[in-house]
Amino acid sequence: AMNLLLSLTVFCLLPLALMLIICLLSLFFPLGDNARFFSENDVYNYSTMLLIEDKGVLMLGAREKVYALDLYNISQKRASAAWEATPAKKTECKNKGKNAETECLNYIRILHEVGDDRMYVCGTNAFDPECKYVSFSGDALTFEKEMEDGKGKCPFDPFQRYASIMAGDDLYSATSMNFLGSEPVLIRSSGNIRTELKSSWLNEPTFVSMAQMQESKESESGDDDKVYLFFSETAVECDCYNKLVVSRVARVCKGDLGGLRTLQKKWTTFLKARIDCPVLESQLPYIIRDAYRWCDPEKDWKSCIFYTVFTAQLDTSDLSAVCAYRVSDISRVFAEGKYKTPVPVETSFVKWVMYSGEVPIPRPGACINNAARKAGIHKTLDLPDRTLQFVKDKPLMDQVIQPIGDKPLLVRRGATFTQIIVNQMKAADGNKYPVMFIGTDKGTVLKAVNYDGEMFIIEEVQIFHPHNHSFKKLYAGSDTGVAQIPLATCERSSSCMDCVLARDPYCGWNSALGKCVFISKSHREIIQSLKVGDASLCPDADPIKPLNLSVREGEDLKLSCLPLSSLGKIMWQKNNIDLTPSAALQLQDGLLIQNVSLSDAGHYRCLSVEHSRAKKHSITVIEHLVTIDLSDSGDRTLDTQAQTDCASVTGLQVACALLGLAFFALLAWNFYKGHLCMPWSCFKSKSEEQSQESQNQEALHSGVTMSSYGGPAWNLKIPKSLLSGLGSRKYCGVDRLSIKSG
Ligand SMILES: *[C@@H]1O[C@H](CO)[C@@H](O)[C@H](O)[C@H]1NC(C)=O
Ligand SMILES: *[C@@H]1O[C@H](CO)[C@@H](O)[C@H](O)[C@H]1NC(C)=O
Ligand SMILES: *[C@@H]1O[C@H](CO)[C@@H](O)[C@H](O)[C@H]1NC(C)=O
Repeated sequence: AMNLLLSLTVFCLLPLALMLIICLLSLFFPLGDNARFFSENDVYNYSTMLLIEDKGVLMLGAREKVYALDLYNISQKRASAAWEATPAKKTECKNKGKNAETECLNYIRILHEVGDDRMYVCGTNAFDPECKYVSFSGDALTFEKEMEDGKGKCPFDPFQRYASIMAGDDLYSATSMNFLGSEPVLIRSSGNIRTELKSSWLNEPTFVSMAQMQESKESESGDDDKVYLFFSETAVECDCYNKLVVSRVARVCKGDLGGLRTLQKKWTTFLKARIDCPVLESQLPYIIRDAYRWCDPEKDWKSCIFYTVFTAQLDTSDLSAVCAYRVSDISRVFAEGKYKTPVPVETSFVKWVMYSGEVPIPRPGACINNAARKAGIHKTLDLPDRTLQFVKDKPLMDQVIQPIGDKPLLVRRGATFTQIIVNQMKAADGNKYPVMFIGTDKGTVLKAVNYDGEMFIIEEVQIFHPHNHSFKKLYAGSDTGVAQIPLATCERSSSCMDCVLARDPYCGWNSALGKCVFISKSHREIIQSLKVGDASLCPDADPIKPLNLSVREGEDLKLSCLPLSSLGKIMWQKNNIDLTPSAALQLQDGLLIQNVSLSDAGHYRCLSVEHSRAKKHSITVIEHLVTIDLSDSGDRTLDTQAQTDCASVTGLQVACALLGLAFFALLAWNFYKGHLCMPWSCFKSKSEEQSQESQNQEALHSGVTMSSYGGPAWNLKIPKSLLSGLGSRKYCGVDRLSIKSG
């Protein structure tokens, strides 16, 4: 029995395990040699990114260092400059009880372009945030001497999340103002306009992201531009004894100057609403983790959409969701919706209910518009106290904002979503498709498209081969380095069917070249079928020549065949008739026929089958012409090479096959449960696993920047935790994403 077990282990499991690992690596992990990375020894936390396309640089903020990298090959450093916290600062920080190695350093957190080749940079500066200007010209980065106080612009704590954008010359930031991290604000640098320090305004918030919206453009009511802020906070309006965290969107008007007496130097236009992403099985609301503003550059702001990712509260589930909201829906709630008001019930308990009394005019929280101007109110300083007092007490709207279609676009179990970025692709059919790139805490990137309500996941994970002809790139930052990844790797599809069924709007089959190509301007002869996935347009594949095989009666025979793509499933035919699963043992990698008899002779065809909405598509992978050799049936040697791995006893082979399947199932279960890390993410020890856990915990709290760029709408950036460990491959989770598709 021991011998049997041993031979089972050695001959079956080992090769199987190896094969599976190699297969997994090749199917899911074409990392590496082709993707480009940047990291420097002893420099960590590459977490702040800024694309400057006209200069062709990716500005990168790391710990105590700023870099300018070549946008087309980020391995190429154009310049760098150090900005370290002074030894005195570090000592002071340490004396206040902070960790010298992790907290008392200068983490670059804000990087915004301000014109004249200059950038505005802020760092945590050993728990005493500072900002300064840095210029990039003639391939040199130079810090200016003058420092500015970074309080309210940049967090003190490098692990705390924050949000900021530069709108014109104004820096809007949402962060904590003090050392303890207990004074949250949304602040605009010019005029120093900020939020009230009241729990009804901001209640232990976690800031997620910011975006600006040009709502004044062609506005009939003479509306103002807005800045939106996404965050989560402890609900004040909840009838519950436990703390409940809810997601919010708030907005302010850009022209806000504060009030004259009431709300002096405070926002008079700060309004917020709950934002919901209803995941069916959840009882507690899901929490927003990231938001991305997506606008069609050919349309006005009303067509803009916020794409967001939500995850479960308190780790109650491993589901993550993507919800999309129309900016116009959100805007309408603020402009026309009802307010909530606090009413005292019993002693010391306040209930928030819908306010149904009279609403003062001008409407509380509204931007100065034509109607206000007609009434002689030209700036917020002119607003009457009644309006100001109302908004000071009741900044929360009654209505909850629901996503487009009242449900998530995508719900998925497994790796937690952390980031989202959206890029619109004009496909061969002339239609434009928003393609979502979703980062997860396991270091993978999901690429998904919504085709008429059907969510299609094109691929998961990948650090690809860069396409220099496309100049469309995704940039991902992590603690250990940054990576540059193309938006698609079309050339991985080797057949037309594979290419078409991938339903990737970036890729199409070029019949003339016989290749799956990245779609460029000349997409005339391209075969693509995004909405239905119809591969019947593909030219017929060259016929496959069957392999001749001769076996002796009574032997076992294995015909090998692997699916052509990760989506494909294997199907067998014998003499043009589908083989039923009972007729022969169909393995992951082939067909096993035991105790071959005369009737097993015939023409075997292995098909790789993929399903799409249109129909089933199959492609022949290999064909075998099996003949039975009757010359000497006494000798039981085996002659197909696939046999040699397993011993020649029939029972053993069945056991081997079953064990193989069991092994695969076990392996899959382990991956699913997260006991095993995917090969690209990390090869880590148990102790590292623990630190990994606390790190993931930290990842939720650490900083996020959303920056606005003057340029085209694509020219955007994304926050925390996607691909990772790209340099050392030690850490999971990508920190930042930026996208370039010009
Ligand atoms: C910075 O990177 C180091 C090393 O990868 C990591 O341990 C640490 O948690 C990171 N710090 C922050 C604030 O993200
Ligand atoms: C990218 O830059 C690195 C570092 O300078 C260089 O070694 C590499 O050859 C470059 N790759 C390409 C494709 O230009
Ligand atoms: C793109 O790369 C190919 C080789 O892969 C090279 O021949 C071509 O010149 C490159 N084009 C540009 C614009 O860099």
